[in-house]
Amino acid sequence: MTITYRSMIPFDIPVVSAMEKEIFKDDPWSVGQFKEEVANNGITRHYLVACDSQHQIIGWAGAMCAQEGADTDILTIAVDPDYRLRGIARHMLTSLIDWAYTKNSPTIFLEVDKNNQPAQALYISEGFEIISIRPDYYGAGLDALVMTKALE
Ligand SMILES: CC(C)(COP(=O)(O)OP(=O)(O)OC[C@H]1O[C@@H](n2cnc3c(N)ncnc32)[C@H](O)[C@@H]1OP(=O)(O)O)[C@@H](O)C(=O)NCCC(=O)NCCS
Repeated sequence: MTITYRSMIPFDIPVVSAMEKEIFKDDPWSVGQFKEEVANNGITRHYLVACDSQHQIIGWAGAMCAQEGADTDILTIAVDPDYRLRGIARHMLTSLIDWAYTKNSPTIFLEVDKNNQPAQALYISEGFEIISIRPDYYGAGLDALVMTKALE
């Protein structure tokens, strides 16, 4: 199957939000959050979607960089369960990293659930390192790991 990647646009938000509710059941982003993010796409944000050969969205990812030379934060990355382990997340993460380089970011940051082994494996394989733990970041007893990748 051919998978294509393109910028996320406002038209995509209803589909992405519906998938978000399935994938991030405990704390999904609202439609309003996605709208705010996508409004800045190409400026302080870089959001992309992955599509299958029928042009249906099967994944998305996004990052923010407030200004040239500032650090980049990876804000989200998700792939439809039916399409995982095919390199889609790695492709999108690479796009976010490449964008951070264009912004001259010294470092990329992200938070990941301490128990989310697939995501941690993905990030470690792309050169991220764990630098600290944020206790209760996702709620009581739900700690986050802070991971970074230096770009300099
Ligand atoms: C994490 C997630 C985005 C990975 O998506 P994916 O498209 O399946 O990932 P890829 O196929 O690009 O995998 C790239 C690498 O990540 C690691 N990885 C991905 N899924 C893994 C799993 N289930 N177990 C172990 N390693 C895994 C591997 O190192 C893999 O490389 P390899 O296939 O060469 O071994 C996906 O599992 C997902 O959407 N999870 C739910 C949402 C989520 O947790 N997002 C991250 C929030 S921080």
